[in-house]
Amino acid sequence: MMTDKVAVITGAANGIGRATARLFAAHGAKVVLADVGDAEGSALESELKEGGTEALFLHVDVRQEDQVQEMVDKTLKRFGRIDVLINNAGITRDGFLVKLPLVAWHEVLAVNLTGVMQCTKSAAPVMIQQGGGVILNASSVVGLYGNIGQTNYAATKAGVIGLTKTWARELGAKGIRVNAVAPGFIETGMTAKVPDRILQTVKERTPLKRMGRPEEVAHVYLFLASDAASFINGAIIPVDGGLVL
Ligand code: NAI
Repeated sequence: MMTDKVAVITGAANGIGRATARLFAAHGAKVVLADVGDAEGSALESELKEGGTEALFLHVDVRQEDQVQEMVDKTLKRFGRIDVLINNAGITRDGFLVKLPLVAWHEVLAVNLTGVMQCTKSAAPVMIQQGGGVILNASSVVGLYGNIGQTNYAATKAGVIGLTKTWARELGAKGIRVNAVAPGFIETGMTAKVPDRILQTVKERTPLKRMGRPEEVAHVYLFLASDAASFINGAIIPVDGGLVL
């Protein structure tokens, strides 16, 4: 499905990004693992290489313009092209609005919104020159419907929807498709920080009565990146077990 395609995945060292890297590798892709987590990123690179995948871990902080440009340059040097960019890196710094430190607002915007913009700005010219590519962004049900205690996060995930729709319009004529996923609550390090009673409520409200697994989001990324999704552009795909209907 992805044989010899080159996929750059940010935030690839853990959670949904790691599951996505493994799935793309299993389907024949060459994967660039971009993350600030050196230990986990290197471990994943070794694991994938042992399985016969061409994998490259790069220390990339998506907040840093020079590191993002370097990610694109090193990917081109090693693999010669970028077929898929998955803007998956994201963080939370939760707090009620009236107590939210400005620094927590800026931190989340820097990674979840500016990071997504910078990675796409650096990778898009490569895709334009190639005559095509796929860009996939991580939104969230929180970006669609809001969430108590997540002013900053909700703003970024709603912002990602705006970016996705704008780029779908701007880049579509160049053969580049741009889509986003909007996961519900998925079992990763990110949701491990959420209090148990809240997760319990989420499960009760979800028709499937459970949280999602990282692999269940990865499969949607795989589909959207593949030619099977060749006429899907500007879409926001919920992956939430029916939490929001
Ligand atoms: P995670 O916390 O398990 O993994 C996030 C990865 O991003 C980590 O490896 C981390 O080192 C990396 N990262 C953080 N800051 C970075 C930076 N500045 N530069 C590069 N890498 C950085 O998170 P998870 O759950 O896998 O989330 C992945 C994406 O999916 C995020 O954008 C998140 O907002 C989104 N999402 C997650 C949901 C969930 O329930 N877990 C639900 C909806 C969306």
